[in-house]
Amino acid sequence: MSLTIALNRGRILKECLPLLARAGIEPLEDIHSSRKLIFDTSGGFKLIVVRGSDVPTYVEHGVAHVGITGKDTILEYGEGASFYERLDLGIGVCQLMVAAPVKADYSTGPIRVASKFVNVSRSYFEGLGRQATIIPLSGAIELAPLTGLADVIVDIVDTGNTLRANGLEAREAIAAISTRLIVNRAAQKTRFAAVQDLIDRLRQVIAA
Ligand code: PRP
Repeated sequence: MSLTIALNRGRILKECLPLLARAGIEPLEDIHSSRKLIFDTSGGFKLIVVRGSDVPTYVEHGVAHVGITGKDTILEYGEGASFYERLDLGIGVCQLMVAAPVKADYSTGPIRVASKFVNVSRSYFEGLGRQATIIPLSGAIELAPLTGLADVIVDIVDTGNTLRANGLEAREAIAAISTRLIVNRAAQKTRFAAVQDLIDRLRQVIAA
């Protein structure tokens, strides 16, 4: 039975396609130069290319049987959703962190937190018993403390270059992030053999 795989466009897509190719799954046309959003592949799969935050949505609703996206996206969507996280692809490795202006003291009192990761931020500061106002932003999060919009940010840190360039520093690690493969709960049962075969192939590619 054929599987539909939802893929995060952007950086994850770029890193994933070579892995998928080595597992025998290659789009029949060039994804990067096409404006199409759905692709047939060798091996009889379908790839749908969506925004990262939409990957869990497509998988939860069973439109895609499998999804590939960052752990940050999965945490923000909610791990209790109706999909299973089955494989760590070992790519897109970074950290989800609290960052603040260099040497700034935000240890007491209420704080304002700017982030794309509204749910993760809220539960992190709730867990610490800190009173936090979460300010949702969709990009250029590092600007928020510089302009006085927020005291700290919660964001992905890879090399740390973006923080450094903006006078910020990482302070608290919230979660280790990498690219994960998720499987729709129903598909895990109804398409067990196909799902398992895909996971086994990817596992072999990662181990090689
Ligand atoms: C991410 C993140 C930071 C940057 C961190 O943004 O939001 O801005 O990467 O990487 P660094 O530590 O290596 O500097 P991305 O480039 O993915 O763009 P986005 O804001 O659209 O998510």
